[in-house]
Amino acid sequence: MKHIIFSLLVIAAVALGGCRYDKADELYVATPCDTSVSITFSAYVTGVVNDNCISCHSNANNVSLGGSINLEGYDNLINYVNDGPDGGSFMGAITHNPNYLAMPQNEAKLDDCTILKLQKWVNNGAQNN
Ligand code: HEC
Repeated sequence: MKHIIFSLLVIAAVALGGCRYDKADELYVATPCDTSVSITFSAYVTGVVNDNCISCHSNANNVSLGGSINLEGYDNLINYVNDGPDGGSFMGAITHNPNYLAMPQNEAKLDDCTILKLQKWVNNGAQNN
């Protein structure tokens, strides 16, 4: 009797998926991140900043809402890319580097692909392109 119960338990476990075989490639389909495309300040970086940062870091609002950090326009933003290694406090904040305050403040971290593309722009010299 014990054997029968044990067998039934095994069959039930298998039926419920205990021994499922899943292909990792099919389960975890990563969203492809195409960083081969050209990443420019005007067409890409500005858009990300406008969507995620400018509400606090604009010319108008940075003093009241953004700790006096102005990210509006290249000439302002570049100061925060050049204030430290590897993209300075700009990249440090968005990558949640513990040496910097995590940004966007009180919001989820930007997605990995966006961060990779911003990093590419920085690695290519953070040009005003
Ligand atoms: C809701 C408002 C808000 C948003 C949105 C926001 N920030 Fe900030 N950010 C702040 C405030 C406030 C500070 C200063 C906090 C302090 O000094 O304690 C700050 C600080 C910073 C700093 C300085 C960090 C440091 O450790 O020196 C950087 C760089 C920065 N923000 C970049 C960004 C970027 C890039 C985004 C968008 C991805 C963003 N912030 C979105 C409010 C915001």
